[in-house]
Amino acid sequence: MPDVDFLKGELEKYGQAHLLAFYDELSPEEQRGLVGQIENIDFAKVLKLYREASEGDRDFRDVKASRGNEIPCGGDPADEPVLEPMECTVKKEIGPDRAALYNKIGERILENGLFAAVTMAGGQGTRLGHDGPKGTYDIGLPSHASLFEIQCERLLRASRRFGAAIPWYIMTSRENDGDTRAFFREHGFFGYDAGQIHFFVQNMLPMVDFEGRIVLDSKGHVKEGADGHGGIFAALESSGCFDDMKRRGIKWVFVGGIDNVLLKICDPFFIGFAESSNAPAAAKSLLKRSADEGVGVFCRRNGRPYVIEYTEISKEMAGMRDDKGEFVYGEAHILCNIFSLEGIQRIIDEGGGLPYHAARKKTKYVAENGETVMPEKPNAYKFEAFIFDAFEKLEDLAILRVDRETEFAPVKNREGEDSPESARRMYEACKGASEY
Ligand code: UD1
Repeated sequence: MPDVDFLKGELEKYGQAHLLAFYDELSPEEQRGLVGQIENIDFAKVLKLYREASEGDRDFRDVKASRGNEIPCGGDPADEPVLEPMECTVKKEIGPDRAALYNKIGERILENGLFAAVTMAGGQGTRLGHDGPKGTYDIGLPSHASLFEIQCERLLRASRRFGAAIPWYIMTSRENDGDTRAFFREHGFFGYDAGQIHFFVQNMLPMVDFEGRIVLDSKGHVKEGADGHGGIFAALESSGCFDDMKRRGIKWVFVGGIDNVLLKICDPFFIGFAESSNAPAAAKSLLKRSADEGVGVFCRRNGRPYVIEYTEISKEMAGMRDDKGEFVYGEAHILCNIFSLEGIQRIIDEGGGLPYHAARKKTKYVAENGETVMPEKPNAYKFEAFIFDAFEKLEDLAILRVDRETEFAPVKNREGEDSPESARRMYEACKGASEY
């Protein structure tokens, strides 16, 4: 039995006693669930994030009012960073000899089993109206392949073509881990060797309202959200997946999102490009199609590689053009990145932690009188760390600009641009099924 009085005292110290306000009304099972959640919360950390977000909120409100709804946590807003565009290599401009060399180098890495893939699949398909892990979404291809299956097909083809196993690490969240594993089991792991698939779970953080109170979304439940894919390095280490990569002698680790049906996971050219660059990481980019496209853009911040997320860029900066009429900050980040094992090791050695960004979100909450309220405006902060903040730590990053038509068909919206319909069309147009 938990010592509830002791717990109440602890919560009071952090101004969070409301979390147990309805404790006596709960069933024993709900009580256990709530206490379990509370015991897992690092209150000092959460409240520090809240303080930084609310201070940033005050300072950034005017500048950001035109666009973003996210605030970077930490750092002094008075220290204006120096931002500059970031250089990249344009794939189309690479000559045939160099291209052949990159392909050869990449193929060798694949043939020698030095390559692993990580898919970040902690997100839900909420924006698509899909009730479940986003990777289980069916975009309506004749085969009805899910987003997971589309990625798996590429891995299967590459592992057969290069005659070597490619371990696949899939990051889930506590919200979707069980459903994701069950989906893979139900589908016989899509024909992939189940022994090469490893699931690992990212962390969650509670949401905090604008007064600094952790949100209860029902009387017996704290509202928590996945803490962003920036937690990936810490999670790779704590899950043992990073040790597994080391044991296998992996050299390059691809890390990508789940929603792009043209994502080339095992692209020998890109692997060869990364290996030849001498940088600890490489990323693919493409040209932003409009000032307000929902993509982060590469730049240098205080001389280091950086991605400014679309929720954090000012309207002016997003629309800025050079004298040729091209976007000054137009090199879009497409969550198609590759890290050397040493690069990952370096991030882990520094503690694995990346800064958090706070987003203002609308979330259901239980009011003091016990009523459940669905607010009409954002009412709480959600804290997320972004994997691409690791680039800044690594100091160097090689960027390869590729073509949108063959590499980027994300499924984000129900209709229109970046929808299942547009992704299906692009997938079929470039016979996505023959690539890896
Ligand atoms: C993302 C990128 C953006 C990029 C765009 C390209 C982020 C924060 N931004 O935007 O820079 O230009 O894709 O399509 O990623 N995920 C987790 N755990 C989490 C949150 C997300 O695993 O806690 C995974 C999702 O399952 C998905 C990916 O990360 O695979 C991207 O997340 P999403 O929130 O969809 O990012 P976008 O807003 O589309």
